Amino acid sequence: MAPSISSVLLLVFAGLATAKQCQNFTIPVDITARQGKFLEIPLEGNLDATTFSQLLTQNGANYTATLLQGYQTLQGSYNISAKYCIPDNEKPGPIVQVLSHGIGFDKSYWDLSYNNYNYSYVEVATDYGYSTLAIDRLGIGASSHGDPWNEIQAVAEVEALNAVTTKLRRGEIPQIKNKFSKVVHVGHSFGSVESYWLSALYPSNTDGLILTGYSTASFITTTIAAWNLHIARLNQPYRLGDASPPAGFGFEDLEKGLQALAHKFDIGLSDQDIWNTIATTEVSNLIQGYNETICPLNYSSGYLTWSDLTANQFTFLWPGRYDIGLGLVAEATKQPVTPGEILTIGSAPKTSPFNGPVLVFTGEYDQPFCGGNCYAASPSIPAQAKAQFPKASAFVPYIQPHTAHGLNVHYNATAGYKYIQSFLSSHGLAAA
Ligand SMILES: *[C@@H]1O[C@H](CO)[C@@H](O)[C@H](O)[C@H]1NC(C)=O
Ligand SMILES: *[C@@H]1O[C@H](CO)[C@@H](O)[C@H](O)[C@H]1NC(C)=O
Ligand SMILES: *[C@@H]1O[C@H](CO)[C@@H](O)[C@H](O)[C@H]1NC(C)=O
Ligand SMILES: *[C@@H]1O[C@H](CO)[C@@H](O)[C@H](O)[C@H]1NC(C)=O
Ligand SMILES: *[C@@H]1O[C@H](CO)[C@@H](O)[C@H](O)[C@H]1NC(C)=O
Ligand SMILES: *[C@@H]1O[C@H](CO)[C@@H](O)[C@H](O)[C@H]1NC(C)=O
Ligand SMILES: *[C@@H]1O[C@H](CO)[C@@H](O)[C@H](O)[C@H]1NC(C)=O
Repeated sequence: MAPSISSVLLLVFAGLATAKQCQNFTIPVDITARQGKFLEIPLEGNLDATTFSQLLTQNGANYTATLLQGYQTLQGSYNISAKYCIPDNEKPGPIVQVLSHGIGFDKSYWDLSYNNYNYSYVEVATDYGYSTLAIDRLGIGASSHGDPWNEIQAVAEVEALNAVTTKLRRGEIPQIKNKFSKVVHVGHSFGSVESYWLSALYPSNTDGLILTGYSTASFITTTIAAWNLHIARLNQPYRLGDASPPAGFGFEDLEKGLQALAHKFDIGLSDQDIWNTIATTEVSNLIQGYNETICPLNYSSGYLTWSDLTANQFTFLWPGRYDIGLGLVAEATKQPVTPGEILTIGSAPKTSPFNGPVLVFTGEYDQPFCGGNCYAASPSIPAQAKAQFPKASAFVPYIQPHTAHGLNVHYNATAGYKYIQSFLSSHGLAAA
């Protein structure tokens, strides 16, 4: 039976795990990025977003080429929002893991509080003695936002990640008292693409790469279609936009109201039907943030998001292998994507001169990077990423069983986190 809306949406995080000490802060960065100059088409209403998806996925067409007018140099100062954690009751070791989230998430992906933090990557990494710095990618969450076409593109984000890394190495982040001699870059999805990209441009600025939800194949056309892209600020007006919610009405009221209506007028909707109608569709997005004192993220209209939990499941989650309650949380706390990101995600250098260890760690049923089956080719689709790393000291592809693209949101995620820490230990990057 599906959980009731109130039990899954009105979350109470009881008790906090104590294996780590964390702080949030902002890291200012100055970056220069040579990147695409795109013709900006209107992205104001949901149908504009649909038009964008149609042209992007059209057979035989190359919409990137249609929109690309040339290249330009972006120069700017931005803020990167970070959460820094160190192991509790222990002197931090010499290695810090820099964690870059994928599309649709923010830095909280790595330290999910759901179920008393038992999905948290950071809990496991700090247990093994690593420190972690999870960032909101440039353009997303509490980091600086920007023009969704011509500012928030892959290269600018890679430059921001590189600037944060350099500051970390030089001890230029005032809130961080420890000195780290080694930095491991851990990514998920687009965050993996950017970690790889950093290793290609600045190979000496990383000591190890953990690329989760990654391969060199792309099934993004299906992903884009399945997302059913809408304008982020219309999808969650009170959270991703800046609409002011009226007082005195909440999610439970909507559920109860619909139930009462269904019973009174016998409209043929069972409580289960009503749960489906509200919780799994855009109705739940519409009402997010309605009765919360959250600071609205107020993204400009060109920022896009997938429609609802059904699109989220198709592209990120394997049925029966994730807790629907956590799926609802992921949907409720989702972050948007920019057209500039979508148009540049595939433009990374073909190979990287990085000469340290590389782990590609991808879920068996990954949709965007394996088309739903990482074993559909031999060697496996993630294993083929070896060609990107001609000089790596080690290249290990690992396929996490019974798991789709949103690795950290699946049952058994913790066993995967342990595999990753063991990989680091056995490749010269042990925490102690
Ligand atoms: C960091 O920020 C998050 C999100 O606002 C918040 O939930 C968390 O309590 C903060 N953590 C610390 C240690 O301040
Ligand atoms: C589409 O056009 C872009 C920009 O000209 C180019 O970089 C890319 O390789 C093209 N893609 C394909 C699949 O031809
Ligand atoms: C970064 O954040 C600080 C403190 O909130 C603020 O004063 C500054 O203007 C921000 N810088 C940018 C480039 O947004
Ligand atoms: C609004 O939120 C408060 C605090 O969580 C809660 O006590 C109240 O019942 C909510 N009201 C509605 C109408 O959902
Ligand atoms: C949202 O952003 C717009 C455009 O930058 C600004 O005019 C508006 O005041 C912002 N809304 C809030 C609530 O800050
Ligand atoms: C977290 O705990 C729940 C309930 O005990 C369990 O079903 C789930 O598999 C755990 N998640 C992880 C990632 O271990
Ligand atoms: C859980 O993950 C570990 C590590 O990848 C794997 O060895 C194990 O088979 C997985 N268990 C299930 C039930 O998928």
